[in-house]
Amino acid sequence: MNKRRPIIAGNWKMFKTKDEALEFIYQVNVQVPDKETVESVIFTPSIFLRDLVKREGENLRVGAQNMHELEEGAYTGEISAPMLKSYGVKYVIVGHSERREYFNETDQSVNKKAIQAIQHEITPIICVGESLTIREEGTTDEYVQKQITKSYAGIARADVLKTVIAYEPIWAIGTGRTATPEQANDTIKMIRKTLASLYDVFTADQVRILYGGSVKPSNIASFLQQSDIDGALVGGASLEPASYLALVQAATE
Ligand code: PGA
Repeated sequence: MNKRRPIIAGNWKMFKTKDEALEFIYQVNVQVPDKETVESVIFTPSIFLRDLVKREGENLRVGAQNMHELEEGAYTGEISAPMLKSYGVKYVIVGHSERREYFNETDQSVNKKAIQAIQHEITPIICVGESLTIREEGTTDEYVQKQITKSYAGIARADVLKTVIAYEPIWAIGTGRTATPEQANDTIKMIRKTLASLYDVFTADQVRILYGGSVKPSNIASFLQQSDIDGALVGGASLEPASYLALVQAATE
């Protein structure tokens, strides 16, 4: 059992209607384990945030899937950190690979968003991960190292533990194909090494790093058993209450 408290983050992406979202929270709220044992967070479409944050219980948190990098401005359709904060939202995903691929997010914008989130006391889950081409070329470490270095530019040592990282190999997202637990652990160890060189070993050892990519109840234990993996960011398998609860349960064992 490692000393970092696990996080099980459910990423709903663009799924569910209001009634389905409410049904989920009513069922899951009362059943998630104590937050001191495992941090349970679901990342919902932003239109549901108000209704869901109001209903989140002691042990379940609701986060946003994205936000803008600036405080305010003429950016039609966007949502800012102060807006999230004003609704009591405490977590946000930044730099998910789908946003990098379809909405032009770059390491620079991810960096700005992470800084903005920290300033507004929102925990950013900073996503990194390589494509299949990069994995096959054998340059995963260099690629992910660069993503981490750029994402943390200007983030002070004292703020690093206010962030969480999710390592998600793009080729494993929604494909049913996972990295092996050992592969994921090796890359996550490399991320810690990168943080140790940017900051210090203590900080690198404390920061929580999740694995994401086709995690489900039947395979989550194999990832959580690894020395450096502190939880999971889960898409498809987080949509059904029973499945999400099984994932969270696995993190208590
Ligand atoms: P998946 O998605 O669990 O459906 O592979 C993970 C993610 O995109 O965060």
